Parts: sequence; structure tokens; C-alpha cells
Amino acid sequence: MIPQVRKLDSFEAFTEHLRSLGIDLPVDEVVEPGGVLAQPTTVHDGSAGTLTVPNRFAILPMEGWDGTADGHPTDLVTRRWKRFADGGSGLVWAEATAVCHDGRANPRQLTISDSTVSELANLRSVFHDGQIVGLQLTHSGRYSRPEGAPAPRTAYRHPALDEPSGANDASVMTDDELDELVALFVQRAVLADEAGFDFVDVKACHGYLGHELLSGFDRAGRYGGSFENRTRFMRDIITGIRAAAPRLAVGVRFSVFDAVPFRPGEDGVGVPAATEPYHHAFGAHGSGPDLDANEPFALIDMLRDAGVGLICTTAGSPYYCPHIQRPALFPPSDGYLPPEDPLVGVARQIDATAQLARHAPDMTVIGSAYSYLQEWLPNVAQAVIRSGDASMVGLGRIALSYPHLPTDVLAGGELTRRLVCRTFSDCTTAPRAGLVSGCYPLDPFYKARPERVELATVKRRTRQPRPR
Ligand SMILES: Cc1cc2nc3c(=O)[nH]c(=O)nc-3n(C[C@H](O)[C@H](O)[C@H](O)COP(=O)(O)O)c2cc1C
Ligand code: SF4
Repeated sequence: MIPQVRKLDSFEAFTEHLRSLGIDLPVDEVVEPGGVLAQPTTVHDGSAGTLTVPNRFAILPMEGWDGTADGHPTDLVTRRWKRFADGGSGLVWAEATAVCHDGRANPRQLTISDSTVSELANLRSVFHDGQIVGLQLTHSGRYSRPEGAPAPRTAYRHPALDEPSGANDASVMTDDELDELVALFVQRAVLADEAGFDFVDVKACHGYLGHELLSGFDRAGRYGGSFENRTRFMRDIITGIRAAAPRLAVGVRFSVFDAVPFRPGEDGVGVPAATEPYHHAFGAHGSGPDLDANEPFALIDMLRDAGVGLICTTAGSPYYCPHIQRPALFPPSDGYLPPEDPLVGVARQIDATAQLARHAPDMTVIGSAYSYLQEWLPNVAQAVIRSGDASMVGLGRIALSYPHLPTDVLAGGELTRRLVCRTFSDCTTAPRAGLVSGCYPLDPFYKARPERVELATVKRRTRQPRPR
């Protein structure tokens, strides 16, 4: 039985539970108002210069399923961005935005193009002076679903993922197609610059194209095989952006380590779906998820050489190892019960981030996977920043339910417990069922929407297992 974090309601109970799990997670007993989380930090970009971030909270990118069919923002998107703007985070790493229609992960994802750029500029303008805002540029590769049905484009034939991702008959992207895509990313970055974003992210995480290329050990040609070839896509995009938009900073979010795909076992608990030997997990020993830091360190060094000063870490993929990527007690409809206490997953990402931050103390490193910490998030966040294990703390799901958590923590206030994300995963289950994205359990706005009833039906139909 995995104990619920909200029931670990004293420092002793929480730290004793960590000890029982064998986890060495930094945690402070007291969170200081005006302490390290309130201190500014500086991003040094080799081309754009320095960016001062007013505090140590960042909102992580969270793809919406609520744009228009042709990639324009809607009122729901604007509401989400406004809440992030007003919540007090120093930096907002805005949601995955496709560089072309075919590269969208869902039929309501934002797209960046000549026809959407002015609306993206309006979205950028909802932020306050001093907040640093970047846009995540993406091509969804294997997980492209521009019209709803899978329309995968892969980096290589994958023995364990082709079947579950509907990619058995998908065409592998050719080198020429990747060359064209590099040019398109650069064009889209120029548009993001015009729209007023401070930086763009050349996304390389979660099994999407930029990430899959990193593990293209078996791919032939200019984009596969050697480390130099596997990182060519990212490097050429960054070089192109430097030349075309020198005032725009560049950040990179990447899955620092990966894991073999998981599937539900007979009792609903996740089990590995592929057997050893497995060599497709970038940054991991074998099937993972144990970090093998050699290539992640080499990637960071390559990014530093390209003048990148901003990194955001994450791990795995929500499609094939969600318990690694977003630790949760309650799985999404297409998931499985957690095979480990989700705190183990939190600690794994925090530790991998710390290793990167120590390797690159001159770079700004934002960590992820803090939402499952719930009431203990501020205590762990402060300890992590204080010990230099990251430069900033990224907020994912908890920013959907409780976007003004940074304001409350920085002011030394109590957390509003009814807004603390309990990792119910409805913000993943709803979009998987074609419903708009949002926090249905805790955000009164979504609670009141008709989709909530539909979501309940979907959850009954897919008979989500209960946590042990
Ligand atoms: C609804 C939803 C959408 C997401 N979309 C993105 C995305 O667009 N880009 C990305 O890099 N990560 C995305 N993520 C992953 C989060 O940025 C984050 O890594 C993850 O939720 C773990 O952080 P947390 O524990 O604070 O939630 C998404 C997560 C959720 C729940
Ligand atoms: S739906 Fe709300 S409570 Fe559930 S995981 Fe998402 S943000 Fe957290």
C-alpha cells in the first residue's frame, strides 16, 4: 500500500517515509519567506545576452488540447496563460507548439505559423514585466496526431514502440526531410522572436521527434549512429536560430534518461513491456531508468558550446513510461498502477537534475516532477535550490490546479490545501478522450464544465484501476 503524501502530515512522518523507501531527497523543515526561492537568477545566453529571472519558480510546458482545429489559441488557452502570468512564477516555459500541422500531437494543439503569430504575440503580452517567457517548439514525430488518429513519423524502426504507437507502417523520416525540418524550426523561432518571446525551446523529450533522434543508434545516415550525428538535428536548429534571430535566447528541454516501455501487468501494475538487451533508452544504463550520465553530460557540453545557457530536465515519456515521467498515484486512462512509490520517481528526477546542475554550474538548470510532493513541495524546492541541485524548480500539474502557489510560498503564506494537485491524472485522461485539457477535480472552472460529466463516463468505461 502506497501511503498518500497528504497523510504524511509532519516533517518526521515525511522524512521517516523517505528513509523507509531508501530515498535521499533534500528537504528543509521550514520554508523561509524571502529565502532562496525568492532570489533572482541569471540566464547567460551566448547570443542573446543575460536574462534575469526574478525568482526560482518556473511553470513547465503543458500542451493544450484546446486550441482551434487549425492551431490558433482560444479563450481557454488565454485563461491558462493568464493564470500562469498572475501566479508569480519568475519564468514560464510555455506549452508545446507545433512547427507544422503534421507535427501536432493532438488536433487542438497550438501551431506557430504566419497565420497564428499575432495571436501568439497577444498571449505573450499577458505576462508581467520581468517575467521570462519561452515557447516550446515541437514536432511530435512518432506521436503525431494532427487530425486525432495516429499519423506517426519516426526517427527509426523501434522494436518495442512501433506496434503500440501505431507506427508499424509509418515511414521513417529521411535525412532530406530532417534538413527541411531544421530550416522550418529556424523559421518558426524567428516568428517566436517577432511575437516577443524571450527564448524558444528546441524540444528533445518525451519520445517526440527531437528526443527519438537522440537514441537513433541504429539509424543510418547523417542523423543517426554516432553521438555527433544523433545530436545534429538539435545542433543545426540552434546554429540556424543564432544566425536568424540573434536576440532570441535558446533553451533545451530534454529527457535526461529514458526507460523501456511499460504496460499494465495482470494486476494493473506497470511491468516492462520489452526484454533485455535494450539499447534505445537515451541517458540510461540498458533498459533504464538508471541514469548513465555520459551522454547527457556530453549533450550539455555541446549545448554550452552552442551558447545555450538554459536547460530544463525531464525524463522518459508519458506514452510509454508515464510513472517515470510524471509520478502519480492515480494513473491516466491509458496508464497502469505505479510499480513504485511515486516519491521514488520524484527523487530519481531530482537526483539526475542535480548531477547535471553540478556538471554545468554555469548554466541555468530547471528541474521537474515536483507535483507529487504536494504539501512538501516548497520544503523540497527550497532544499534543492539551497544546495545547488538545480537553479529553478519547475511546476507542472500543480500549476494547473494551483497556479498562484509561487506567490503564496514566496510570501510565506500557508498553502491552500484544496488546490494542491493530488495527481488524479484527469488532466491527461481528459485529453486522451478528446476533451479539453484542464484540472477537472480541483479547478472550479473545469468542475463546472459539461466535459466533466463526459470525463466521468470515460473513467468508468476505461475502468481505471485503484491504487494499491
Ligand atoms: C496535461 C499535461 C501536458 C503536458 N504537456 C507538456 C508539453 O507540452 N511539453 C513538455 O515538455 N512537457 C509536458 N508535460 C510534462 C510536464 O511539463 C511535466 O514534466 C510533468 O507534468 C512532471 O511535472 P509535475 O510533476 O510538476 O507535473 C505535460 C504534462 C501534463 C500533465
Ligand atoms: S487533473 Fe488536477 S489534480 Fe489531477 S493531476 Fe491534473 S492538475 Fe493534478
